[in-house]
Amino acid sequence: MQIDVLGTGWNDEYTSVLMLPSDQKRVDTLWMSEAGVVDAFFFVGPGPKDVVMQYTSVTGTPAMPQLFAIAYHQCRWNYRDEEDVYNVDAKFDEHDIPYDVLWLDIDHTDGRKYFTWDRLLFPNPEEMQKKLAAKGRHMVAIVDPHIKRDESYFIHKEASQKGYYVKDATGKDFDGWCWSGSSSYLDVLNPEIRSWWAEKFSYENYIGSTPSLYIWNDMNEPSVFNGPEVSMPRDALHQDDVEHRDLHNAYGYYIHMATSDGLVKRGDGKDRPFVLSRAFFPGSQRYGAIWTGDNSAEWDHLRVSVPMVLTLGLTGISFSGADVGGFFGNSDTELLVRWYQVGAYYPFFRAHAHQDTRRREPWLFGERNTQLMRESIHTRYMFLPYFYTLFREANMTGVPVVRPLWMEFPDDEQTFSNDEAFMVGNSLLVQGIYTEKAKHVSVYLPGDQSWYDIRTGTAYGGGVIHKLEASEDSVPAFQRAGTIVPRKDRFRRSSTQMENDPYTLVIALNSSQAAEGWLYVDDGKSFEFLQGAYIHRHFTYSDGKLKSSNLASTGVRSKKFASECIVERIILLGFSPGPKKALIEPVNEKVDIEPGPLLLRGGWSSSVLTIRKPNVRIADDWTIKIL
Ligand SMILES: *[C@@H]1O[C@H](CO)[C@@H](O)[C@H](O)[C@H]1NC(C)=O
Ligand SMILES: *[C@@H]1O[C@H](CO)[C@@H](O)[C@H](O)[C@H]1NC(C)=O
Repeated sequence: MQIDVLGTGWNDEYTSVLMLPSDQKRVDTLWMSEAGVVDAFFFVGPGPKDVVMQYTSVTGTPAMPQLFAIAYHQCRWNYRDEEDVYNVDAKFDEHDIPYDVLWLDIDHTDGRKYFTWDRLLFPNPEEMQKKLAAKGRHMVAIVDPHIKRDESYFIHKEASQKGYYVKDATGKDFDGWCWSGSSSYLDVLNPEIRSWWAEKFSYENYIGSTPSLYIWNDMNEPSVFNGPEVSMPRDALHQDDVEHRDLHNAYGYYIHMATSDGLVKRGDGKDRPFVLSRAFFPGSQRYGAIWTGDNSAEWDHLRVSVPMVLTLGLTGISFSGADVGGFFGNSDTELLVRWYQVGAYYPFFRAHAHQDTRRREPWLFGERNTQLMRESIHTRYMFLPYFYTLFREANMTGVPVVRPLWMEFPDDEQTFSNDEAFMVGNSLLVQGIYTEKAKHVSVYLPGDQSWYDIRTGTAYGGGVIHKLEASEDSVPAFQRAGTIVPRKDRFRRSSTQMENDPYTLVIALNSSQAAEGWLYVDDGKSFEFLQGAYIHRHFTYSDGKLKSSNLASTGVRSKKFASECIVERIILLGFSPGPKKALIEPVNEKVDIEPGPLLLRGGWSSSVLTIRKPNVRIADDWTIKIL
């Protein structure tokens, strides 16, 4: 490979990278930089996964989220008051829809002074959080980095006295307009200011917060409504007179870092943080989740959400998603339902809406649509064990949770420009539907092996574009032959309540009558997994035997994680002629293999076989022989 550096020392207005028209043999890019020295790293692969691993070895692998954070989030600008919160919470139960997190946007505060509560609307925030926590649910409150210039506001008083704000070019505190009106911005380039900010999240300082409250950093580009390009002037000054132009892109990263640090340090410091950020920079994956910003309730925004999330994954930022339903504008019902069907596979799965939109909680569109949205959310909850395993893979290697098809099939050129379908891990392929009243949907299934429809178990050939009838029930999704996917099929109110539930394993055989898969489990919240407190299994099927073996490192493991969870069902896809019995070892017990019917709720197929109640523990080594 030859790289020609054609010029350096650009001194243009913007940092930008242009992809220039290219012929077959070369791709030209033009890079311009606002300021400073460009450090260039080259990651040589050879495969796409190698590149991400190499990249995240420099910028960091993603943090391991808590389990609740990868379940479903319900957000709106704004849930008005405590009564509204209780109502929405109760409706989820009434309609048998699981959710894990209820979000509060800017208007829960007293005059948009973050870390405060509007006490008329939210007189008892602790009690509110505790009531939701009793059902295993969490809350998220927004804390933005613009600080209201109000002498009676403790954050402003301290920050201005200590000289913690970014200065304007004349050396005065920079004063810009944002949600809080006239605001100043903390100079988070400075580590002292970051630790001061982190302290603000302690339970003593953040009055009304409890251990089930987590944080959302919005507007951290930073947004300045009356600033150039709605941001901070380039000549604003940070510590040591560093101009804003030199660190603009890192501002959001630093506030995200400091907030995440604050959540780690509060209380007994045991729980993993959760912080959603809008702005990001290389390395932001170490501090939490990212969403794709303020989108609109339009079909094209649903479509583009997929390449956006895939691209973020390639930059190490695995934990991302787009606002389900679209932030601006009223989603028509069909679009909303389709959005849930695709969004259920985003790594970060949150519905959100602007205050000017009509209410759009999933039960407001008639029983049929409620059912469709409920099923999408249920599907996500079923696959939580698989998602969590993928989050751990990302945490260890950087390889993203959702992947472009070409990351799994780098030799298949037909995948290169396909960004309407995506892989969840190496095992599931999801094809979105992005048009109104679609009658058909074309799905390209890569490779030379079969794919099994996750609802019906029907097999489809690989290497072919299939023109399928578009179903109202779901977007097409397939399990790749040669894989084993762990699920939890019992429906609960929240992920937390699924903790002790038994597992289902879905085995899809390939043409060599083999398959493999993984399961990672830990306590879902603490850092003890870093000291070995986890279960990591490798499932393999070959020569008629399903084996579960230990993958957890045998090195120093000062902490242990125990689980009594069992496998309650094994679903077999691609077994023909159908075997009748299975032998479980080492207990030497014979169990029946029965036809179908349950695959996904409501799905049925004669090609699906089930081993009921093998009742092997996920923590143990075992073998199941198919007779
Ligand atoms: C995984 O995430 C944790 C934070 O949750 C982090 O401390 C750790 O470095 C990450 N990587 C690995 C390999 O554990
Ligand atoms: C079938 O799956 C197994 C396990 O994933 C794999 O090792 C094998 O190469 C696969 N065979 C084919 C033909 O793809």
